[in-house]
Amino acid sequence: MSTFAGTDALAIASGYRHQNNPIQVTAQKNKDFSVVENTPLRKRAAAKGLIYGAATQTSTLCLDTKFATKFAQECAMLVPENELKWKALRPSFNSFDFTRSDWLAHFASTNKMLLRGHTLVWHESLPQWFKAIVNNRNAEQIMLKHITTVVGHYAGKIHSWDVVNEAVFPEHGRADGLRNTPWLKFLGLNYIDFAFRMAAQADPKALLVYNDYGLEYDTPGDEAKRTAVLKLLERLKSQGTPVQALGIQAHLEGEAPFNAKKLKAFLKNVADLGLKIIITELDVAENMLPKNILVRDRLVAKIYEDYLSVVLDETAVIAVLTWGLSDRYTWLRDQKFRKDGETVRPLPLDAQMERKLAWYAMARAFDQAPMRVF
Ligand code: XIL
Repeated sequence: MSTFAGTDALAIASGYRHQNNPIQVTAQKNKDFSVVENTPLRKRAAAKGLIYGAATQTSTLCLDTKFATKFAQECAMLVPENELKWKALRPSFNSFDFTRSDWLAHFASTNKMLLRGHTLVWHESLPQWFKAIVNNRNAEQIMLKHITTVVGHYAGKIHSWDVVNEAVFPEHGRADGLRNTPWLKFLGLNYIDFAFRMAAQADPKALLVYNDYGLEYDTPGDEAKRTAVLKLLERLKSQGTPVQALGIQAHLEGEAPFNAKKLKAFLKNVADLGLKIIITELDVAENMLPKNILVRDRLVAKIYEDYLSVVLDETAVIAVLTWGLSDRYTWLRDQKFRKDGETVRPLPLDAQMERKLAWYAMARAFDQAPMRVF
């Protein structure tokens, strides 16, 4: 039996998305985070027919060998955090640079990991030249060339591609819930269908994913997002678009409760469309939680276990990916930094690469997950 000692804790916190509804978060001191054996996450997940992996960057793996070793031990799938985005791959209108992404692909195959593709069509991470060059006359050609070249380059080597990322944003006020993006402006709403068809042609083996955030909570914003995403997926399926899975980013918040019933119902609706589900970018922001590390870690771990126990109950969920593995390298350092100046602790390993309570929570969730039968 391997255990991780926690402490008695009661924390009161309110988060920015939930500030009209301050909540009391109780980290029960009796909550048990013990697991049997030291088996890494990738093996625990695999024992249930699941995949565990994480996002990382070329520079991190190159410079930090301790991290690279841990990454290979824990992860069965590698997600290039930025290396497959337009900004990284497209130094100019006419060129592609696969140097850094190829390095990651090589690292993944050397360490017997699957590789994800993230992401082909997104309104962010576009290169400088994009705005000056792309217009409604050439957008289709430019998207086609990008998808054909990038997906073609890795054809047969990618487990799943996030073909379209974050295309839904009900706040923009459109009846279909779509986000106003350059692609929508230039190509109209069929740009999503077009992207999926191009990707399917370039790599018939990769699982093609629609990926989005803000799908977890019982808030009016997330409710609207779930409804609009379902509407989009239904439309795509009914017109024969080759979308095969929904990617749920799952950037969670340590202080926010979620409604298990609503979450379950949403996952079931997605599964009923014949789609698989991947948790693509899981992490737990803890910038609104108390300073005490033992308290913080316990609250974060509880969110991991509570969330995953609901999500993994749905057998359409085939993989869980965290957005980073160690607190040393997390986008939340800049994105959701702490006002008290403490470093953030949103991931399974701490900055010294030691397993935290969050790791144990994930391990427990995998151990308790129902077996996937294919
Ligand atoms: C983030 C990366 O983690 C950062 O390093 C980068 O500066 C910006 O993008 N949703 C996504 C990811 O789909 O691509 C984003 O990754 C995080 C939010």
